[in-house]
Parts: sequence; C-alpha cells; structure tokens
Amino acid sequence: MSTRPRTPAPATPAPGKLPLPELAEMKRRHDRIVMVTAYDAPAARLADQAGVELILVGDTAAMVMLGHESTIPVTLDEMIFLTRAVTRAARHPLVIGDLPFGSYENSDEQAVASAVRLVKEGGAEAVKLEGGTAMARTIEAIAAIDVPVVGHVGLTPQSVHRMGGHRVQGRRSGHGPGERERVLDDARAVQAAGAFAVVLECIPLDLAAEITADLAIPTIGIGAGAHCDGQVLVMHDLLGLSTDWTPRFAKRYAELGREVVRAAGEYVAEVKGGRFPTEAQAFAPRAAKAG
Ligand code: KIV
Repeated sequence: MSTRPRTPAPATPAPGKLPLPELAEMKRRHDRIVMVTAYDAPAARLADQAGVELILVGDTAAMVMLGHESTIPVTLDEMIFLTRAVTRAARHPLVIGDLPFGSYENSDEQAVASAVRLVKEGGAEAVKLEGGTAMARTIEAIAAIDVPVVGHVGLTPQSVHRMGGHRVQGRRSGHGPGERERVLDDARAVQAAGAFAVVLECIPLDLAAEITADLAIPTIGIGAGAHCDGQVLVMHDLLGLSTDWTPRFAKRYAELGREVVRAAGEYVAEVKGGRFPTEAQAFAPRAAKAG
C-alpha cells in the first residue's frame, strides 16, 4: 500500500502566490506595486486580505516591534522568528525577509548563509539588503543560488551613524556618499548585480523618477515620491499605531494607537469599577448531581 498522502502535496509556489516575474510585467504595464511591512501572522493575514502584493519583514522590526532606537540591534535569529510568523499567514503576497545589519557584510559566504536561513527557516521567498555599488558582489552571490534579492539605496538606515541621522539622500550633485549621482550609480549597480527590485528610500522625487525611468527592474519608493513603480510603508505608520511621531513621508490611514489606548483605558476603568466581568463573561457553578 502506498504511504503517499491521498491529498496532493501543496504546489510551490503556493496557489495564488504572486509569481515573481509578474513584478517586471507590472512595471511594463505601469501597474503600481504595493508593499507593506509586517512582523507577525495577524498583520500578514490582514495585509493579504487588503490586497498587497509584497510583504516586507523589515528590520524596522527593531524599532516598531522590539523598542530599539535604530534598526542596527536586531539579529538574524530574531528576523527569522518574525519572518516565520509572517510566512505562515501570507497566502498571496510574496514575502521578503530583510537581512539585518551584521548578517551579510563580512563575506559572500556569510551573506549566502544568512539568506539561506531566511528562506529555509523563515520561509521567505526573497531577501532584501541595504547598499548599492559596495554590495553588488554580495547581491550577485545570493542571486547566484537563486534566492531572489531586493536592493535598497538612498537612505539606508543601517548606515545611520555614517549618514549622521535619518537624512534625505541625493539632494546634492556629486558621486560622494549620499550624493545624487552616487545614488543613481548604486541603483544601477544593484540591478546589474541581479536584484529583481530596488527600494528607494528618502530621495528627492525627481531623482526617484530618473532612476525609475533608467532601470528595467521595479523601484519601490518610501519617501521617494509618486514616480516610483511601487510604494512601501511601515505597517505601524499607516495604521497610526504610534500615538506620537510619524515620519513626514508616511501617511496615517487610521488612528489605531489612539483607539487601542481608548479601548484598554475602558477595560482598566471597568475592572477597577467592578463592571467587568459581568455574568455574560462568567461560568455558572456546576449543577449538583441528583441523588
Ligand atoms: O525595514 C524596513 O521596514 C524597510 C522599509 C522601510 C523599506 O527597509
């Protein structure tokens, strides 16, 4: 008797998954690509239901989930843990796992090993890493083992100390770090190395338009204006989950932070006032046995 399961094995990619080559077609058709970050299963499920094409398990998790001041402290093990939760729930969007600072810069071998872990243990379908010309060989090495790679140029938060803060890049003309022609060269280098898309973060909108027209691969903008092939926002920013600060380039589509404080405050008041739980949330005593 066969020991094979009677139901067919799930297909790879799963049915309904956005096929990666479709992204290049979307660019050709001027069909805008929507990416959002997610760091856990409920957020991934909701993003999927909302119709996003790409989910990024970004290293912004360091700040919005883990309470750090920058993206630098998050570890590869932590990113794998979060990516695994997201990939369990995301049926249709492609899931991109972010390679955290320190997990890919030492050598091609280190980068390939980290990318393999995000794919194999985290279930990611692609990986993202920061850096342009300087990271071209690294991108090539990861792409060479058929792990799809997204590049990230412009403001690269893992380089926050070199940049002297989270500052707009590419405003001044020149080929030096953070200068306009350098950002363009970085985007070109990322494409030449085999990335299938590139995130453009915090650069002037005319530079983003120039890069988008120049590259064959899709550009996904954040703080880069409307001329990119797609947009990405951090989930916590778009939901208004913080009660204080939002980056200038983000838009709050809801005020969930305020709503959470209101709801939790009501819970506190009801417990303190003896109004929760009521009989509706309690269990009646066990009926005594007859006889
Ligand atoms: O880590 C992240 O969330 C990102 C996006 C801001 C693009 O890199």
